[in-house]
Amino acid sequence: MVNCTNEISDILVMYNLTEEEKKELLDIINPIIIHEEFIKRLNSKMYPHHGNISLGNHIVSDAIETYIISKKKNRKKEKVDVELAVVIAMFHDLYELPWQNNKINKRFLNKHGFTHPIEAVINAYIWYPEYFKDLTKARVIIDGIIHHMYPFPVRSINVNFNESEINNLDKIDFINDEIKNLIIESSISLKKLPISFRKSIYKEGRVMSRADKLISFKKELKSVRALKACITGKNKKLYEKNDK
Ligand SMILES: [Fe+2]
Ligand SMILES: [Fe+2]
Repeated sequence: MVNCTNEISDILVMYNLTEEEKKELLDIINPIIIHEEFIKRLNSKMYPHHGNISLGNHIVSDAIETYIISKKKNRKKEKVDVELAVVIAMFHDLYELPWQNNKINKRFLNKHGFTHPIEAVINAYIWYPEYFKDLTKARVIIDGIIHHMYPFPVRSINVNFNESEINNLDKIDFINDEIKNLIIESSISLKKLPISFRKSIYKEGRVMSRADKLISFKKELKSVRALKACITGKNKKLYEKNDK
């Protein structure tokens, strides 16, 4: 079992935050991290994300980076909702199944890179429904998650979720229509393509997407093998020491 308090402390020491900032950040992160599904994702053997860095570790690093960028922007009076931006970071990659060396065969545009943001929104709603009760906030969270991979496109959901071959399709029946419509509305492509290619329309989503790139490319994807895996989905030597 992963001790999530130790795990977060280990990541936090890499950043220069004041005690006050740490408290503000942890007040947002803690209610999310204690969920059993999140704890599972802190285990790098169960959910290796970039190389052998766990998905949970990646998400927490993104959340801290998102917090830092949001605060910086607010010092310049850019009015970023810090809490919403960090919540988007905490939810953005809550996909269903580990993607490296996953043998499930799908159509090209339904592969992990294109569809995992849709899976993440669905799981976030199922595991943390209280964050989606206020529809104004839900709209920002959903749009932020769905477009976090920009400039990489996301699979459009044109009414029918089945076509996307997502791994948590069985959960769709538990999502209310308002939330389903927000997912469809956000992912739909105006050009009627099966993919949507745009930034989040909200600042909070754009800040989070930038934090994701910084963490992924500057901190995590340091080996050629880990980087190559992002394209091929295969990483035969996943647990070798230098694959960080
Ligand atoms: Fe992602
Ligand atoms: Fe990510």
